[in-house]
Amino acid sequence: MTSSPSLLRFVEEKLARLDDCRLRRRLRPLERGPGMRVRAGDRILVDFCSNDYLGLTQDERVKRAAIAAVERFGTGVGASRLVTGDTPLHAELERRLADLKGAEAAMVFGSGYLANIGIVPALVSEGDLLLIDELAHACLYGGARLSGATVKVFRHNDVADAERILKEERARHRHALLLTDGVFSMDGDLAPVPDLMRLTRAFDAWLLTDDAHGLGVLGGGGGTGRHWGVSPDIQMGTLSKALGSYGGYVCGDRALIDLLISRARSFVYATGLPPSAVGATIAALDVIASEPDRCERPQVLARGFARSLDLPLPESPIVPIILGDPDSSLDASAALEREGFLVTAIRPPTVPEGTARLRVTFTATHEASDVESLAGHIAHLGLGLRRRPC
Ligand SMILES: Cc1ncc(COP(=O)(O)O)c(C=O)c1O
Repeated sequence: MTSSPSLLRFVEEKLARLDDCRLRRRLRPLERGPGMRVRAGDRILVDFCSNDYLGLTQDERVKRAAIAAVERFGTGVGASRLVTGDTPLHAELERRLADLKGAEAAMVFGSGYLANIGIVPALVSEGDLLLIDELAHACLYGGARLSGATVKVFRHNDVADAERILKEERARHRHALLLTDGVFSMDGDLAPVPDLMRLTRAFDAWLLTDDAHGLGVLGGGGGTGRHWGVSPDIQMGTLSKALGSYGGYVCGDRALIDLLISRARSFVYATGLPPSAVGATIAALDVIASEPDRCERPQVLARGFARSLDLPLPESPIVPIILGDPDSSLDASAALEREGFLVTAIRPPTVPEGTARLRVTFTATHEASDVESLAGHIAHLGLGLRRRPC
């Protein structure tokens, strides 16, 4: 089949523009192995940019659990959970997630992205108000757009700015929902969740935190809520980062979860999570419960790395090195790769214009010597420019 000429023209022009700005993205098959080693063609690189914070994608216990789940339940569930796609394993995982988050109930989605674009429109719509942190993840913005609610963006982590918007807008809207990452994915900083809880309570607004980068690494593994000692109304996250599996989840009150089971379109109209992902996640939760040191290590390594380069001390295992334009970031990434490190360049629109960067992430299975060596090469290349404030 040949595409229509106008479609091809449109696509080729778009690609040419992306090439001009060095914003075109390309796939690159890699073979991941233990110890954060990846095979790229004929080279082995040390991966310093994945979100596999606990190294559980390669853990034998987690792999065995995935295989056992496939043997018992098959490779897929064949339908939406609400049709014939539910298994006892799904319910067990949901109980475990709710317990870990100190919530009454939980439900799992096909991915974190699907969770956010399902949850938000199920809770707010036209006539309601959505507040969203300017640096919130793309899928929170996706959910906000789909909802039809009035969307107001507040300055990053600026509770006073969110309060200003609530003062101006709250009375004109039926319900209000505030959306924020718990740990910001590209900067690694934390949202001021207790302050946001106080603010939302004061204005009868609801708070949703996206804990994709907090679970498994903050609060002894319990994530953002445990770190701060609070329980936001709606706690969502992913099974695909520290848990080393695939899927998304949300935790909250039983009634909230019951509503989402009926109304979150990306849950109702999508096939249930495959047994392999569910089994792997349950085994990963066992590891988190039994190995607190593993949950601490990514952040310990991140702090050591930042100290050695005189960078601001990170609050999570994510350390951004902001270089500005896409060219500098691609060049820096290529230079590190020549030295044996995989640190993919992050460019707009994933990050704001002018803040292209290397996003360095640390995991429980990195060796201290890998971290020292990376820091040495970054210093040698003169990349650690963002100094700690005096
Ligand atoms: C903050 C945040 N939320 C949600 C997601 C989406 O999760 P998933 O990869 O499971 O779709 C991501 C992942 O990239 C993320 O960083």
